[in-house]
Amino acid sequence: MLRSVLKNILMRKYRKMCPGYEGGVTGVNIVNCKFEDHVYVAHHAQIQDSFIGNHTSIGRFDKIREAKIGKYCSLSWDVTVGAPTHPFKTITNCALTYRREYGVVDKDEYFPQKKTVIDNDVWIGCDVTVISGVHIGNGAIVGAGAVVTRDIPDYEIWAGVPAKKIGQRFSDEVIKILEEIQWWNWSTEEIKDNIDFFKADLNIEIAEQLSEKHLKFTKGDK
Ligand SMILES: CC(C)(COP(=O)(O)OP(=O)(O)OC[C@H]1O[C@@H](n2cnc3c(N)ncnc32)[C@H](O)[C@@H]1OP(=O)(O)O)[C@@H](O)C(=O)NCCC(=O)NCCS
Repeated sequence: MLRSVLKNILMRKYRKMCPGYEGGVTGVNIVNCKFEDHVYVAHHAQIQDSFIGNHTSIGRFDKIREAKIGKYCSLSWDVTVGAPTHPFKTITNCALTYRREYGVVDKDEYFPQKKTVIDNDVWIGCDVTVISGVHIGNGAIVGAGAVVTRDIPDYEIWAGVPAKKIGQRFSDEVIKILEEIQWWNWSTEEIKDNIDFFKADLNIEIAEQLSEKHLKFTKGDK
């Protein structure tokens, strides 16, 4: 009983801070974020100074800092996005020159981090680290265990440490259509209307049909 009352209070608090936040609240830590609608956050995720787009799901124990993440992204568990750097060109790696707790300086000093950008419909496998400042393009996939240190172009599949390209999801002509139709900006109604196309393995014929249907839909004669 007490547990459920506390849970409701916490849920209300997080919903106020982050409209669109949905999901289990256990150990979730969200600070200074903006969420669009239907964002799912699993337990023990920590998200700070970030924007998360519609229908994106954040896995358990993920850590996200200073990131802009688009719509319909799937981040698996134990993913780090925006791993920040420390000053390392000075004599020491220790934070004694910028953190008070070492008893050397009087004031904490913070260093601006580069924003990490993940576009739409990106799948990030489990145990991935994305170093701060990287840009991952629409529809890309990052394989389990990768460390991403370089930008990933749209619809490419990258894996390994450091991550390298291991494949591409679709042909260039299909990707061109996907970039044009930008289905992630469609209404739920339009996605529902085309659900069979969404369920099929994508090829050029399906991409062309979807593109035609989208054109009609936007003109209002579906
Ligand atoms: C990236 C991924 C989608 C690629 O799948 P795929 O296209 O079927 O890839 P394949 O199995 O054909 O592998 C292609 C090559 O990449 C390598 N590879 C695949 N995934 C890799 C990974 N995560 N790390 C390093 N290398 C990887 C394979 O060993 C293979 O190398 P080879 O050609 O030298 O033999 C998949 O391997 C993966 O990592 N999925 C994420 C799983 C996950 O995190 N699930 C958590 C729940 S969301």
